[in-house]
Amino acid sequence: MTTFAAAQEFSEREGGRPAPVLIRGAAPYGEDPADVLLAGGRIAAVGVDASVHPEAADAEVVDGSGLVLLPGLVDLHTHLREPGAEDAETVASGSAAAALGGYTAVFAMPNTEPAADTAGVVEQVFRLGREVGLVDVQPIGAVTVGRNGSQLAELAAMASSAARVRMFSDDGSCVADPLLMRRALEYVKAFGGVIAQHAEEVRLTAGAQMHEGVVSARLGLAGWPAVAEEAIVARDCLLAEHVGSRLHVCHVSTSGSVELIAAAKAHGASVTAEVTPHHLLLTDSRAESYDPVNKVNPPLRPDPHVQALRRALADGVIDCVATDHAPHARQDKETEWAAARPGMLGLETALSVVCAAMCETGLLDWRGVARVMSENPARIGGLADHGRPIAAGEPANLTLINPSARWTVRAEALASLSRNTPYEGMELPARVVATFLRGRATVRDAALAAGAAV
Ligand code: DOR
Ligand code: ZN
Repeated sequence: MTTFAAAQEFSEREGGRPAPVLIRGAAPYGEDPADVLLAGGRIAAVGVDASVHPEAADAEVVDGSGLVLLPGLVDLHTHLREPGAEDAETVASGSAAAALGGYTAVFAMPNTEPAADTAGVVEQVFRLGREVGLVDVQPIGAVTVGRNGSQLAELAAMASSAARVRMFSDDGSCVADPLLMRRALEYVKAFGGVIAQHAEEVRLTAGAQMHEGVVSARLGLAGWPAVAEEAIVARDCLLAEHVGSRLHVCHVSTSGSVELIAAAKAHGASVTAEVTPHHLLLTDSRAESYDPVNKVNPPLRPDPHVQALRRALADGVIDCVATDHAPHARQDKETEWAAARPGMLGLETALSVVCAAMCETGLLDWRGVARVMSENPARIGGLADHGRPIAAGEPANLTLINPSARWTVRAEALASLSRNTPYEGMELPARVVATFLRGRATVRDAALAAGAAV
């Protein structure tokens, strides 16, 4: 069993030097098996050098046969809910969920209470993340004061704070005013920042409950048309190119957005994009149950959109997977559809859902998974020590996966404080069996504990 208790115990030792670990016979990137030695927070050696390395003598040996070793996963879009909604999630519970999902770094969205729109709040979230010590928590700063869309927040103060913020977003809300969006793009250019946009033309989504289409018409629920996303994606791609600045499109959900992003990239704009696991696997037919666990923003879309998103992720038009892990307390989810908050849990199921949607369909191999769940998000977010190659000298931020495991999702078994997973009862492929942050196990399956504890 993979334990959060173990993770807590390991985190308490943060500060001391972790004992060396020798992972024997795991397959980096699912390719040829090799021994990998972790020591001093780094990968000390890979391959034949690993077992003869001086640090290997007192290393704990982990049997990696049949397992896949990847760089630790990086999530560009996590809602940790602290400060302000600690009944739904905290930095500690969200970090535990992330580590169990194979993550070594998560970007925390600023739609907290108060919003993360000042150096003080981003530093608080950053420090909480370091204290918990299970994943690197990198705060995202709000673009506008209070995320209210009318006045730019102090972006430079957040950039020069201890949290060194480089990514800014009003996620949950769209930066609707084109002039403000232009100014934000211009402003972050000075320090190599990026604006992550929640693309939603709110004039087209007033009262919307789900994707606008055949299913919404049948159910009589107000629709969220694809064009509401695409109108903002088109506008912002043009603005990013005009200003010569970096735009990141959050949770792309329509085939039209994919076409617009492909065109902008072909034209030379600095545009990157993410897709969520749920938009890769689930469709708007989920709304037929009227179970609000399926309510999310942007909404689940019909299958042709899902297929287009999968192809775009495989061919690089969409750069990465980001969870949009959105925990909600019971009273905000277990209510009638219209009153429920949008959002679903994602951290502990992301890798398995990506495997189901992308690997089992032959669209991605493990190299590809490393690219879209670790390397690309680390590069987009500017994290130098994550998403690195599995090679001697690199930081030991790694995840060990059992590719042939299958498991059934149970909300009550998740580390998140909330229960709003849309995968309840589903059997999914692949399971994280260990996660290493700077060479220290933050999560480890008891079956791997052959030797002494790390
Ligand atoms: O479904 C969503 N939930 N979409 C968002 O943009 C925000 C998020 C949340 O914070 O709950
Ligand atoms: Zn959003």
